[in-house]
Amino acid sequence: MSVVPIILLGLGGVGRALVRLLVEHRGLHAAEYGLTFSLLALCDRDGGVIALYEGLDDVTLLDLVSFKAGGGRLAEYSAGGPQNDLAAVIDIAGRTGAVVVDCTATEATVPALLYALDKRYKIVLANKKPLTVEQEVYDRLTRAGRTEDGRPPRQLARTRWETTCGAGLPVIATLNRLVASGDPVQRIAGTFSGTLGYVMTGLQQGQPFSEVVTQAHELGYTEPDPRDDLGGVDVARKALILARGLGWQMDLADVEVTGLYPAEMDGLSVPEFMAALPTLDADLRRQVETAAATGKVLRYAATVEKGRCVIGPTLVDAASPLGRLTGTDNLVEFHTRWYAPTPLVIQGRGAGVDATAAGVLSDIVELATMGKE
Ligand SMILES: NC(=O)c1ccc[n+]([C@@H]2O[C@H](COP(=O)([O-])OP(=O)(O)OC[C@H]3O[C@@H](n4cnc5c(N)ncnc54)[C@H](OP(=O)(O)O)[C@@H]3O)[C@@H](O)[C@H]2O)c1
Repeated sequence: MSVVPIILLGLGGVGRALVRLLVEHRGLHAAEYGLTFSLLALCDRDGGVIALYEGLDDVTLLDLVSFKAGGGRLAEYSAGGPQNDLAAVIDIAGRTGAVVVDCTATEATVPALLYALDKRYKIVLANKKPLTVEQEVYDRLTRAGRTEDGRPPRQLARTRWETTCGAGLPVIATLNRLVASGDPVQRIAGTFSGTLGYVMTGLQQGQPFSEVVTQAHELGYTEPDPRDDLGGVDVARKALILARGLGWQMDLADVEVTGLYPAEMDGLSVPEFMAALPTLDADLRRQVETAAATGKVLRYAATVEKGRCVIGPTLVDAASPLGRLTGTDNLVEFHTRWYAPTPLVIQGRGAGVDATAAGVLSDIVELATMGKE
């Protein structure tokens, strides 16, 4: 049996779901993979719990999950304490074969992740931000590993980030397989936001924009400030990760983003923004009608093609996979030399803490079994 040390950064919705899955599937991992996961350290934004040697026992782990779900801070947990340096935690808790898992939503983890790679540990990210800062950081995070010949490997060796695009859907794995096979990817087109999928479906069914956004807000489908979804930046981060996965050198500032509201509305409070939404209805209605008149539909899509990443309302053929999509699913089309004229399509639930945690767990198992006899 191999004992795999785990250090988990972030105990929000995804981090907690991951801990639950690790505990629930101990039998599977032991029987099928010969693995025992040992959680040596868990951190939130200003605290941590460290248990060297045997790692945290399952009773404590599940107690920590409840404690965090109830709004607790690890700094105040009985066995916890304050921390303000994730790299120091990794230094104390890390050991050969460790997997550091980033389930935070901040780029502040970058130094700790780089430190972990320097120590030859493995890393798994659900967090997009470290992969969408400077290109050099992306390269160091994703290409650490097989550098014995001095050349940065094209493919990741010790890092996985499957859940950063489309949560549990195998989008990054598919991209990496296409790249590895030499099949030129001519275009990637996709929808990467369940919230925006919901909004576009409502528009297509004739609902006014203000009504569908208000509904999504009330149902909790949007962020507390709906502009965080409607602005498109989260989609832009995902498109950038795909573009960089193709080997393109570009930054977030190079991604061309058109949001679903004008920049002048950035200065409003959330209630003011919600009240002003009807001023956008007529324009979006017109765009939907113009699309329909030419046999097309409007989707909030990301298109990665010919060196450009373009995010925003996009006209797509009504009969295409993207055009047929309704509801909150994510869908990604890969148009390549071999997948033409019909693209390779991945579709399914692209969000949710359990599906995301399951994707993170698959990444951990893959890294833990890598090179294992
Ligand atoms: N939810 C989804 O459906 C989904 C899907 C795909 C990918 N993701 C990604 O997965 C990540 C986690 O999502 P989530 O929904 O679990 O987010 P979340 O509920 O906001 O949890 C974030 C966690 O990160 C911790 N954190 C914040 N700053 C930190 C710091 N400087 N050092 C250490 N920990 C820090 C927070 O600490 P406190 O507890 O102290 O606040 C919290 O525990 C995000 O990057 C998200 O984009 C989420």
